[in-house]
This record gives sequence, structure tokens and C-alpha cells, in this order.
Amino acid sequence: MRFLTLAAVLAASTFTANAGFAQEACDEGELVIKFAHVTNTDRHPKGIAATLLAERVNAEMDGVACMEVYPNSTLYNDDQVLEAMLQGDVQLAAPSLSKFEAFTRQFRIFDLPFMFANMDAVDAFQSSEAGEAMKASMVRRGLRGLAFWHNGIKNFSANVPLLLPTDATGLKFRVQTSDVLVAQMEALGAIPQPMAFSEVYGALQTGVVDGQENTWSNIYGQKFFEVQDGVTETNHGVLDYLVVTSTEWLDGLEPEVRDQFLTILDEVTTLRNAEAFAVNEQAKEAIIAAGGVVRTLNAEQRAAWVEAMKPVWAQFEADVGAENIAAAQEINARY
Ligand code: LMR
Repeated sequence: MRFLTLAAVLAASTFTANAGFAQEACDEGELVIKFAHVTNTDRHPKGIAATLLAERVNAEMDGVACMEVYPNSTLYNDDQVLEAMLQGDVQLAAPSLSKFEAFTRQFRIFDLPFMFANMDAVDAFQSSEAGEAMKASMVRRGLRGLAFWHNGIKNFSANVPLLLPTDATGLKFRVQTSDVLVAQMEALGAIPQPMAFSEVYGALQTGVVDGQENTWSNIYGQKFFEVQDGVTETNHGVLDYLVVTSTEWLDGLEPEVRDQFLTILDEVTTLRNAEAFAVNEQAKEAIIAAGGVVRTLNAEQRAAWVEAMKPVWAQFEADVGAENIAAAQEINARY
């Protein structure tokens, strides 16, 4: 790979002004791997992992392959990226598991409220036979999951204090494009509004929506806390990612190139997944340090949120499989 011209560096830095991320250009003859994602690069589990993956590919596969990372929805948002991948316009993405609805319903289990006790349980489920099999669930549609990447557990925020589920009743909440998340908000008597990640800050600021749910790293990275009354530590759901590519691209690689790339991806996954929790805790501390309000729930209040959202499980049991719900609960008992 060679370094970009000054003009190209300036263009790339405009793309990623907040992230301090400079793109490198690929040499002629190198296999170009474009990785598009929607978060920042330096204070986010996905952004850090994508950057590390690119650094390693660019160093260790120099002359053979070259990775370009497009963060902050600068190339595609999550609603566009999978179709673009099937067209061959981008090779890698890591949308949240909520964003695969058009391709598979298997990931719905991760959106079910309070399904997993913590991220260790999520990790164990993803590494189980059932979790591994999920990576291949979209092969017939031309997509292949390569790795689960962790972000973390979601919390609710709104323009009013949220302590009981009834506090959310009647409010409009941005959700990711997931039927489970729509049902979850309806169970609270709230109004769900599916919306692209890049539009959420503006929608909260202008009052198009009253609240949202997300991880600490997303709430901090997108500055949602600045335009909300506060964040309530509900810890009610999972936001994780699937690193995904097209079967056509993967199958078309020379076997040794594919092996080297997948080995690097595996190593980056193990390393960065182990740090995702800490990245989120740092984001939470940074929100508090910046003057954001974080509310915690007592046991009674938490039980009320569990009670209000639990009926959503039954609505989606047929899609996710009773055996998978049972497996998740069995794993929870160990963590
Ligand atoms: C969201 O849309 O809220 C998240 O999926 C964004 C992300 O990639 O973490």
C-alpha cells in the first residue's frame, strides 16, 4: 500500500474528522477489501476492531491485499450495506445483529429483552454449536457471517427521567430496524420509530423522537446523552455485531489468501472482544465526566421493566426456537 496524496488525505480526513482516521490507498494489483461501518473509530468496540483488522491486513498481507475502512456511515449506512455487498461494492461490514431481519430471523434471539444475563453469557451462546451455526444462516441469500463482534448491553435514554416502564409509555423511541425491538417498545406502551443510526442525534435534538436505546459506547460516541434528560441503566438487551461478507467474494479468494485473512480476523476478534466491556465502561465514565446523567434502578424498579417486556419472548419464540431460548437460559445459569 502507498500513502495517499495530500488532497486525498484531506478528503479522507473530512470523512472522518471526528475520528482522526486517515485512510491509506491500495497499490495496483492488491486485492482491495472495503469495510464499511457506522461508528467512530477510536472509542468504540467495533471501530477499534475494524481499525486493528485493517492495520494487520495492511501490514501482514502487504502486496497481496489492502483494507480500506469507511467508518461513520461515510460509505453506506446499515440499511444499504448488505445490498451493496451483494452487488460487490463493499466486501466487509459488521452491522448489529438487529439489522439482518431481511435475511434471517435467527438473530432475533439477541434482541429479546433480558434474554442474556451479561456479555459472558452472550459470548458463550455465540461460541456454542447453535451460535456457530447462525453464522451460516444467510448463505442461501449470498451472505456469510465470519465472526461475532461484541459491543455490549443496551440502556434506555429519554428526554424525561425513566425509572419505571410506565415512564416510557406514550413516548416515541428510535429503534434499530428490528421487529423484536418494535414489539419491545409496544410492550411498554411506547411508540417505536425505526431509524438509521446516523439520524438519531438530530432526531433526539429536534424532538422527532423522545428517546432511544443503546450501549454506553454508542451513547457516548454519538453524543446522545447531550440531548437527553439522562440514561437509565436498564441493561435490558444486547447489541452485538456480525462481521459479514458475500459468499461470492469469499469463495473467489485464493485459498491461502482466504486462510491468512480469516486467521487475522479470528485473532483480532478474540483480542478486541475481550476489551469490549472495558471500552463501554470507559464510555459510561466519560458520559458522567461530561455532565451526563446516569440513573440506576433498584431491584423493584428493575423487576418492573423485566415484567413489562417479558411477554415479547412468546411473540417470537417460533422464530428463534424454544430450544435456543432454553439454551440461552441454561448458559445464563452459569454466568
Ligand atoms: C444502532 O443502529 O444503534 C447500532 O446498530 C449502531 C452500531 O453499529 O453500533
